Amino acid sequence: MNVFLSMVARSAVSAGAAMLVCTCVIAAESVAPGINDRYATEEGREAAVEIFEGEDRNTYQRPEEIIRQLQLEHGDAACEIGAGTGYFTTYLARAVGPSGRVYAEDPQKEFVQSIEDKIERGSGLDNVVPVVGSYVDTNLPDGACDVAIVLDAYHHFEWPAPMLDAMAKDMKSDGRLVIIDFYRKQNPLFDRVGIDAKKHLRLDRDEVIAEIEKHGWQYVESRAFLPYQYFLVFTPPQSP
Ligand SMILES: C[S@@+](CC[C@H](N)C(=O)[O-])C[C@H]1O[C@@H](n2cnc3c(N)ncnc32)[C@H](O)[C@@H]1O
Repeated sequence: MNVFLSMVARSAVSAGAAMLVCTCVIAAESVAPGINDRYATEEGREAAVEIFEGEDRNTYQRPEEIIRQLQLEHGDAACEIGAGTGYFTTYLARAVGPSGRVYAEDPQKEFVQSIEDKIERGSGLDNVVPVVGSYVDTNLPDGACDVAIVLDAYHHFEWPAPMLDAMAKDMKSDGRLVIIDFYRKQNPLFDRVGIDAKKHLRLDRDEVIAEIEKHGWQYVESRAFLPYQYFLVFTPPQSP
């Protein structure tokens, strides 16, 4: 049995004093066993990066159009959960400008290192804060996010319940969560890279909405401008 035990420290800053809150999460079965296994080896990560940053990605991903749809403003804090090697981070960094901030989070430390390398190379990412999360927590500061974006990563959440709770803590009360992920059907990209949609994706669009709503988030709207993916907007659970 795949039992996952994690002790997660979340930090919160209160009245100028740092306070450490410890949350223990014990979740049973992964809902998508093995989906992140390829990222554990260098070979697997190299193959993944070819998909994350491949030449054809912009054609189907339409990053500039996503940025337009996100309606970010200069000064916003954008939280990219499951940022991978930072393909979309560069677009977010530009959109929120020097007065804004992008938290680029991923549980795979080698991917976060790639983002750090990009920052050091001076790729216009001075407003990016790289964060190593875990599979059950983002490790972001509480209340940090005007917008949280999960691009092609929700289907990689093996323990979605604690992740949804963690993201709820991350949000400002008027913040928005945007999930962009693949429809559960074959497309030319999946055919080319050998992905079987039915095996790789456990949920389709409506099931993702239902799962997230079950955890207290409110579904607001959906936008259909991407060829293989849906774009969903949620508002966070309201505290009692
Ligand atoms: C298909 S990649 C997408 C990466 C990036 N968003 C992009 O579009 O290039 C999925 C990413 O989700 C990350 N991931 C897996 N489980 C996660 C979790 N619980 N929280 C955040 N990210 C997770 C993986 O490490 C991986 O970087």
